[in-house]
Amino acid sequence: MVLKRRIVLFIILSLCSIAFAQDGLGGIGDPYFPDFGNNGYDVQHYTIALNVNMEEQTLNGTAMIESLATQDLSVFHLDFLGMSIKQITVNNAAATFERDGRELIITPETPLLENQPFTVHVVYNGSPGKGVSSSNLPFGRGWTWISDGVYVASEPGGSAVWYPVNDHPLDKATYTLQITVPQDYTVAANGLLQDVISESDGRQTYLWEAENPIASYLVTVNIGRFAMLETVYGDGLPLRFFVPERFADELPALADVTKEMLAFFESVFGVYPLEAYGIVVVDATLDFALETQTLSLFGRDLLAGDQWLGIGGADIVMAHELAHQWFGNSVSPASWRDIWLNEGFATFAQMLWLEYTQGTAEMNAIYDSWYDNISYLSASRNTPLADPGDDNLFSINVYLRGALVLEALRQELGDELLFAILQAFHETYRNGNASIEDFIATAEAVSGQSLTDFFTQWLYERDLPLSPLSD
Ligand code: TRP
Ligand code: ZN
Repeated sequence: MVLKRRIVLFIILSLCSIAFAQDGLGGIGDPYFPDFGNNGYDVQHYTIALNVNMEEQTLNGTAMIESLATQDLSVFHLDFLGMSIKQITVNNAAATFERDGRELIITPETPLLENQPFTVHVVYNGSPGKGVSSSNLPFGRGWTWISDGVYVASEPGGSAVWYPVNDHPLDKATYTLQITVPQDYTVAANGLLQDVISESDGRQTYLWEAENPIASYLVTVNIGRFAMLETVYGDGLPLRFFVPERFADELPALADVTKEMLAFFESVFGVYPLEAYGIVVVDATLDFALETQTLSLFGRDLLAGDQWLGIGGADIVMAHELAHQWFGNSVSPASWRDIWLNEGFATFAQMLWLEYTQGTAEMNAIYDSWYDNISYLSASRNTPLADPGDDNLFSINVYLRGALVLEALRQELGDELLFAILQAFHETYRNGNASIEDFIATAEAVSGQSLTDFFTQWLYERDLPLSPLSD
């Protein structure tokens, strides 16, 4: 009897594991967002062509996805939310597909073989984000229509509303973005603007190429009536700044402060890692900024006055987004649980900039107030930094305690060692991904000491250690 039961159990478990193997294709294994990303392939390059109708707020799109199978595949998934799909081909042969929430489930005519490159073409149209349920889109956003333009801010999972994608930072890829808009609009996107092509109907196609791999949440397309300034930094790093036309006078100041920040951060983190940098200010008031790769995104509130969301001058948030280009963008989190590597590091960097421009006393005063602030957090907000929980991905603890950790480590090891650790960490994982454990390993290797107690208290436990400024 016992034996029989075991056999039945064994058969049930085996059937389950077959079912899971199939299901596992739609989900890359993220602990917080099990349906983000997909398994079984590795995207190399996306070519996204969009013809945008600004009046109707719709678009016609084609996505060409060049990928490599990492296992034999009779079926594979992409993430895609909303929009109507007109046609899908795989290696130029018509494929069948089904949709289920985030999952676009594609069956190619001929199964794909491990290590084989393959190309997927998806032809689609619609209004991005329309009809998408918020349960499929944690933290919302993605492609957003504003009164006279578009911005795209997708962290962590909003890219799937505007193109079919393996929507997880583990599968970074390069991008070509070909965006067609009416003549009086400009398109600002990732990488370098290669061409502006006049179409027969009086529209224009902006051709942007990004040569460094990008995590999908950092891909951006911004459409507006922009004034632009192009310049270079250092040995020729291209910089470009976009603001709504009426703010054109602000462009030189944005460029100047960005250059000073680049020089400062290069002295701390090492050479700027990407092919370009710049800023796009979209014509909307936003309560956030985003470190979209090579072109950080801000709302017009950046230009409005001397305080930005109550956290300090506009330069502070500019420093935060610039620092993300090293930490978050060049080195991306291996899973969303590793968000401290993004927000803790960028917030620490903004404080280094503040110290550099306003002095150590001012920095310490702010850290003091942050320490007070987070010591009163409710238990639901005071979650361990190494596992904050999906709800707390961008909560205050991740930012403020996240920065205090690095300041505490700086107090413990000194500037020279701390900055050597940050540089080694970036150098080791650039253009790739890292976990919190990878960072700890780097810190221990570079410092030559065990930091287990330090990181256990600061990252893995809830209780707030003594303030790094208390002595
Ligand atoms: N990463 C952003 C920052 O610089 C904050 C952020 C989180 C965000 N999710 C977002 C911005 C979604 C825009 C859209 O801190
Ligand atoms: Zn940030």
